[in-house]
Amino acid sequence: MLNVCVIGCGRAGRIHMKSYAGGVRGANLLAVCDPMEEARASAVADFGADRAYADWHDVMADPDIDAIVVVTPTGMHRDIVVAAAAAGKHVFCEKPMASSESECDEMIAACDAAGVKLQIGFMRRFEESAQHAKEAIDAGEIGDVVLVKSLTHGPSRPKEWMYDVRKSFGPIGEVSSHDFDLLRWFAGSEVESVYAIGGNFRSPEVADEWPEWYDSFAMTLSFADGKLGMVEGAQYVQYGYDHRLEILGTKGSILVGQQPRETYTVATADGTIRRPMNNSWTYLFREAYIREAQDFVDAIVDDAPVRVTGHDGKMAVRLVYMGLDSLLSGSIVHDERHGA
Ligand SMILES: NC(=O)c1ccc[n+]([C@@H]2O[C@H](COP(=O)([O-])OP(=O)(O)OC[C@H]3O[C@@H](n4cnc5c(N)ncnc54)[C@H](O)[C@@H]3O)[C@@H](O)[C@H]2O)c1
Repeated sequence: MLNVCVIGCGRAGRIHMKSYAGGVRGANLLAVCDPMEEARASAVADFGADRAYADWHDVMADPDIDAIVVVTPTGMHRDIVVAAAAAGKHVFCEKPMASSESECDEMIAACDAAGVKLQIGFMRRFEESAQHAKEAIDAGEIGDVVLVKSLTHGPSRPKEWMYDVRKSFGPIGEVSSHDFDLLRWFAGSEVESVYAIGGNFRSPEVADEWPEWYDSFAMTLSFADGKLGMVEGAQYVQYGYDHRLEILGTKGSILVGQQPRETYTVATADGTIRRPMNNSWTYLFREAYIREAQDFVDAIVDDAPVRVTGHDGKMAVRLVYMGLDSLLSGSIVHDERHGA
C-alpha cells in the first residue's frame, strides 16, 4: 500500500483526497497538510486521514509517506516539489506546474536526480471521451490531424487578485492550461507560434483600474510540423462550465464534449425543451480525477513512465507566457526556444 499525503486542503485538494480515500487501488490517504486549521480538520473528518500537518516541511520528515500530491497555490509548487524529491517521495503536482519555466526545470531536475516520479495534473487526458479521441487519432481513423480546437468557459466572477494579469495571466493561465495540454497531446507536436486577441466584456467597472484585464480571448497556434490550433477561453460566463473540442483530420473529424450535464431532456406544453447545463469542472471531470490518480499510483508500483510529465507541465507554462505576451503586444509570438 502506497501512503499518500495531500498538501493543500482546498477545492482541488479535496477532490484528490476523495480519490485516495476511496477509489484508487494500491494507495491510502495517510496524511493531509494545510496551515489552515479548519481546512485540515474538515479534510480529516471527511476523508479519514490518520495524520494532519500544518507545515509541509514536517511531511518531508515523515518516513511513512511514500508520495505527495501538491495542491497548494501555484507559487509554492516549486519549493514543495524540490523538497519532496530530496526526501525521496514521489510527486503528483497540480497544474499550472509552476510560476516560470525555470522553476519547472528545477522541479524536473530534482525528481530526475532523486529517481522519483513526477506527474502533472492534466486530468483531461484521463477523461474517457478524450482517451477515445486519442485512440482514434493514433489508429489513423481521421487520417492526419490538421486542426485541433478547444474551448473552456468558466462560470464564476474573477477573484480580485486575478485582475492583475501580470500576476494571474488571466483566463489564458487560469482557464486554458488544460486546453494547451490537450492541443499538444492530440497534435503530437510542439507549438511554434501563437497569436491571441481578447477583451473585457463582462466587468466594465474594473476597466479603469485594470485596463489589461480581459475575460475572453481567442488564440490561434501554429505547430512546428505545420498543424493548426485554436483555443478559446472565457471567465465569468455565468451560464455554466463549458468545455468542448474538435479535431479535424484529412479524412474525418472528432467531436468531444457537450453543454448539457445530463442526457435527458424535458419537453413541455409551451413548446420548449429543457436540459440541465453542466455547472462545474468538479462534476465534468469527476471520473478523470480518479483515473489520473490510479495512473500515478500504477506508474509508481510498476516503475513505469508517468503519462503526463514535467516536460508537459513546462510546455503549458510556456504557452501561457507566449499567449499573454501576444495578447498584450498585439503581435504574433514565436517560440524562439523551440527545438533548443
Ligand atoms: N486540475 C484542475 O482541474 C485544477 C482545478 C482547480 C485548481 N487546480 C490547481 O490546484 C492548486 C490549488 O488550487 P485550489 O483551487 O484548490 O486553491 P484553494 O485556494 O481552494 O486551496 C489551496 C489550499 O492550499 C492551502 N495552502 C496555502 N499555503 C499552504 C502551505 N504552505 N502548505 C500547505 N497548504 C497550503 C490553503 O490553505 C488552501 O486550503 C492550484 O495550483 C490550481 O491551479 C487545478
